[in-house]
Amino acid sequence: MEFQLMPGGVISGEARVPGDKSISHRSIMLGAIAEGTTRISGFLEGEDALATVAAFRAMGVVIEGPEDGEVTVRGVGLHGLRAPDAALDMGNSGTSIRLLSGLLAGQSFDVELTGDVSLCKRPMGRVMDPLRLMGARIEGTATGTPPLRIQGGTPLRGIHYDLPMASAQVKSCVLLAGLYAEGRTSVTEPAPTRDHTERMLGGFGCPVSVEEGVIAVTGGSSLTATEIDVPADISSAAFFLVAASIAPGSDLLLTHVGINPTRIGVINILRAMGADLTLKNERTVGGEPVADIRVRYAPLRGIEIPAEQVPLAIDEFPALFVAAACAEGTTVLRGAEELRVKESDRIAAMAEGLSTLGVRNEVLEDGIVIEGGRLGGGEIHTYHDHRIAMSFAIAALRAEEEIRILDCDHVATSFPGFDALARGLGLQITARAE
Ligand code: S3P
Repeated sequence: MEFQLMPGGVISGEARVPGDKSISHRSIMLGAIAEGTTRISGFLEGEDALATVAAFRAMGVVIEGPEDGEVTVRGVGLHGLRAPDAALDMGNSGTSIRLLSGLLAGQSFDVELTGDVSLCKRPMGRVMDPLRLMGARIEGTATGTPPLRIQGGTPLRGIHYDLPMASAQVKSCVLLAGLYAEGRTSVTEPAPTRDHTERMLGGFGCPVSVEEGVIAVTGGSSLTATEIDVPADISSAAFFLVAASIAPGSDLLLTHVGINPTRIGVINILRAMGADLTLKNERTVGGEPVADIRVRYAPLRGIEIPAEQVPLAIDEFPALFVAAACAEGTTVLRGAEELRVKESDRIAAMAEGLSTLGVRNEVLEDGIVIEGGRLGGGEIHTYHDHRIAMSFAIAALRAEEEIRILDCDHVATSFPGFDALARGLGLQITARAE
């Protein structure tokens, strides 16, 4: 599928974007190993979260739905998973493979985890290293990429792990393995990352201690089924926060958006650039803070992105680069080398697309410098990355010519129905078969 965008447009109206991807994955994983029946609403019916559903079904867990975002998971308890008949295919989903590698390292059966071309290029040494320290037997390819083979029946021991990179996936992997390990498993991180695993484990009645930056679980703690209301994904909302900020005349309300403090870098950065964002109706839903966000057009200015905001906005940089391209002056991002190992090398992919549109930029090893200016049009390559596709779609609001975005199928991994929703809010987007 490709997207064709006519230049210009105004973003207005009200929308609730699909459910949070990180929380959706975790709701299935923890629901599956809990005792009792977990009911989930607002679940993301995107391919990534569905890969997690399929994996647990293949391990004998009865999961009903999703239907209109409702999912019922019949938990089998900590030790109730069964050996799957075949390799578990995690598709495009880094969260599925990295969290599951931890959860499955402590099972009694062997398992193989694989994925699509993009996933099979992504580094897994970052999860294999701590798991091996815990005693797990796990192997990847010679270059440390999937497929991963995990040998079951290997006892795990609790460790303390000082994460070498700010990664919620690695943190979560170690904590989930810790549920199956002897004794206490703890982690420290170089910077705070999304804490949905810790919050949700607490919601399932499994104690997680967080003291002076040390996050710890105790092996053998059981989980009790619960109800989960998944907020709208701030990472999906981000495209429209930027869209309405850059398109003159825009006024948009995004409802029920998750505003967990470990995820709100995009709000902080856009505000620092001069965006007009108002949070309303702030509340807590199932342990996660939620708000409605009103965003109105405002002229943006380039900034130096504060280092501490980087992990808090890690998935939103493709959209933020478009904001930077539309801002007056220069935006500088550093300390974001993690962007190079996402679904694509997001620094390279965005730099290439911005250059196609005529936006001056300089690629750094760990970031990018973007000069705000006029946006032309052209043909964009997404490198199998959903967020690259959606970022250039919103760029069309300020483009002077048509933009054609090739290879947009992956948008469905995180944001099914993006083009229809975007059209309803004012983007001049057409999706067609390639
Ligand atoms: C995620 C963590 C982040 C993020 C990804 C989802 C998670 O990855 O980019 O989209 O749900 O834990 P890293 O842990 O690689 O930073």
